Amino acid sequence: MQNSQDNLKDIESLLEFYRGAGVDCFLGDEPVDWVEASARQAAQRHQTPPATAPGNAGAPAQAAMVGETRSPSAPRQLAAAPSRQPAPAQTAVMPDHETIASARDLAASARTLADLKACLETFEGCNLKPTAKTLVFGDGNPGARLMFVGEAPGREEDLQGKPFVGRSGQLLDRMLSAIGLDRKDAYIANVVPWRPPGNRTPTPQETEICKPFIKRQIELVNPDVLVFLGAASAKNLLGVQDGIRKMRGRWMSYALQDREIAAIATYHPAYLLRSPLEKRLSWRDFLSIRARLADH
Ligand code: URA
Repeated sequence: MQNSQDNLKDIESLLEFYRGAGVDCFLGDEPVDWVEASARQAAQRHQTPPATAPGNAGAPAQAAMVGETRSPSAPRQLAAAPSRQPAPAQTAVMPDHETIASARDLAASARTLADLKACLETFEGCNLKPTAKTLVFGDGNPGARLMFVGEAPGREEDLQGKPFVGRSGQLLDRMLSAIGLDRKDAYIANVVPWRPPGNRTPTPQETEICKPFIKRQIELVNPDVLVFLGAASAKNLLGVQDGIRKMRGRWMSYALQDREIAAIATYHPAYLLRSPLEKRLSWRDFLSIRARLADH
């Protein structure tokens, strides 16, 4: 029979196996019907009773299931037994027009970056927030003439609460240093400020919900040069459809209410880590960025 030391070793090696396989966040054992959850939440918002037939034997169990929280600090509550104390209700949100409009109003109400950050801290309209550990708002110099926009934070960013601090961030720092700049000369943010679980790509809905905030962030930083890291941020904020190979290195224009900002897309540093040969093209882009800053 195994003693408890052996059991511990087994558990450790199982966790090690999961980590090696890329598992880095724990969601829960029970499936959650997020569509049902969001319908229920919308019904509550409009103060109409949820459409469940009285006497429906399945209803209480389902309600218990959708009311459970996906809390990053206690994710196992997802599979909690019904007799346990229910966690505070936090359900998935389907971004209807109302939620998007409320994101827009909230973002527009921010007069400073600190306001905007505070708005995001209270905003509950994005489904990425409950699984993320921190809000990854921005880093660098808010008064900089150069601003970078990436797609979404990764694991390291989520832990530290700062964008581009993992391996791709370190590469970005080296690229900046190659043109004589550092983080004090730039401001860095992402389209989506919460880490998608397991680093998956943010859904179009998640991106749409977060867009008013990054747009306001760009307005408030008001840089002379805007650099999109990877195709996703450029596509989302410039509306271009080209792939990154075609789009990169080409000067475009990002429209604010009262002026246009010079904008360029370049390869995402994470892509460069996988395809180092492409660094020569990024180098050209960074030289072009330096020249543009000198022109202004
Ligand atoms: N990739 C991004 O797009 N943003 C980060 O902050 C980190 C990695």
